[in-house]
Amino acid sequence: MNFDYTLAFAKAQDQADPLADLRNDFLFPKQHGKPFIYLCGNSLGLQPKAAREVMEQQMTNWENLAVEGWFEGEEPWMFYHKKLKSLMAPIVGASPLEVCPMNTLTVNLHLLMVSFYKPQPGRFKIVMEAGAFPSDQYAIESQVRFHGFDPKEAIVEISPRAGEYTLRTEDIVAQIEAAGSEIALVLFGGVNYFTGQWFDMEAITKAGHAAGALVGFDLAHAAGNVPLKLHDWGIDFACWCSYKYQNSGPGGISGIFVHEQHFADKSLNRFAGWWGYQEAERFKMEKGFIPEAGADGWQVSCTQVMPMALYHASLKIFEKAGFMEALRTKSEALTGYLIFVVNELNKALGEEQFKVITPTESADRGAQVSIIAKDKGKEIFQQLVAHNVLGDWREPNVIRMSPVPLYNSFEDVFKTGALMLKISKEIFV
Ligand SMILES: Cc1ncc(COP(=O)(O)O)c(C=O)c1O
Repeated sequence: MNFDYTLAFAKAQDQADPLADLRNDFLFPKQHGKPFIYLCGNSLGLQPKAAREVMEQQMTNWENLAVEGWFEGEEPWMFYHKKLKSLMAPIVGASPLEVCPMNTLTVNLHLLMVSFYKPQPGRFKIVMEAGAFPSDQYAIESQVRFHGFDPKEAIVEISPRAGEYTLRTEDIVAQIEAAGSEIALVLFGGVNYFTGQWFDMEAITKAGHAAGALVGFDLAHAAGNVPLKLHDWGIDFACWCSYKYQNSGPGGISGIFVHEQHFADKSLNRFAGWWGYQEAERFKMEKGFIPEAGADGWQVSCTQVMPMALYHASLKIFEKAGFMEALRTKSEALTGYLIFVVNELNKALGEEQFKVITPTESADRGAQVSIIAKDKGKEIFQQLVAHNVLGDWREPNVIRMSPVPLYNSFEDVFKTGALMLKISKEIFV
């Protein structure tokens, strides 16, 4: 696509955008009476307009049905999660049986590691990306210790080459091959939270399996952002939060994926709870845990209806968008335009003031573009916020901006660029 750094170009792209109307399904935060240009879906997605209504509906159900709401009413809470499963599945490329909404992300990482990190004396290592989100680092370290191993020996972190920000797939594969038979688990992010790099998940999975390891992914920054084929890629397990690209609200419910090839494996450990028990027999309250079929068998506590209702409101918008295909086409164009605009700013400023560290190859990134300002990055970021452009700042030096195809426009990107130029000129000239 040939880009042009003009408002007319951006407006023409928006006019031709088949998804442009979806923006009207969301509420935008305001400052000085004006809506923000919101570029922070990588952290917390916007509120769907339908969210208040679905919450209201559940409050009414609770009021009118109270405990009978579990089995009575139009959508008894007992089975409510099923209507999410069929909408979650196409977002991550799985069958409905392989996914389940439950808990929150780090909790699910732990629960899934209980099942899929099975260290033995000679095969106990976990391979992960260096600079993974801290919660993943803490979860992995504590799991390693829980099994009696030393994190220093057991965790293999893969770093970018000197002077580079992102990982090369060939380096990831080579390091998995090198650690080979010592690896019990490869646990990677799908998209890195800092750089926005979308890893080659299929290649990582193949390499992990060739080494005889199991392979899982934290999809916090990937689910609802990039098209995934968890089932076809043969990934063993994954989990994600739904409050970023899937707009389910702060602390929203997480989703898990377990590949169907593991459903019949009775040797897997589980930290079980009553809600994972066979659904039809659950209320017989009998001794001896028998899991429900599929990912539902990993549930522990009773299902979280309110967070699920919010997630469902957003999943319906994904359904309206035809799930990931058209969104991805728009996303690649939006991020491509943002990177182009940043280059135009550098030209106008006569130097590389802004460095994009996210891969410039669109196949290697999602909606997030991470930018390092050579000088006064935090000041520039704060000025952007003061002028109604909301991305986010990640220490020590990165501005993250994510034009999200569900609710951002080319005009948003153009205006952000124009504002960055104005602010930079004021600060530097
Ligand atoms: C990659 C990644 N993993 C894990 C987490 C933690 O998620 P939670 O607090 O929902 O457990 C986050 C939160 O932003 C994240 O970005």
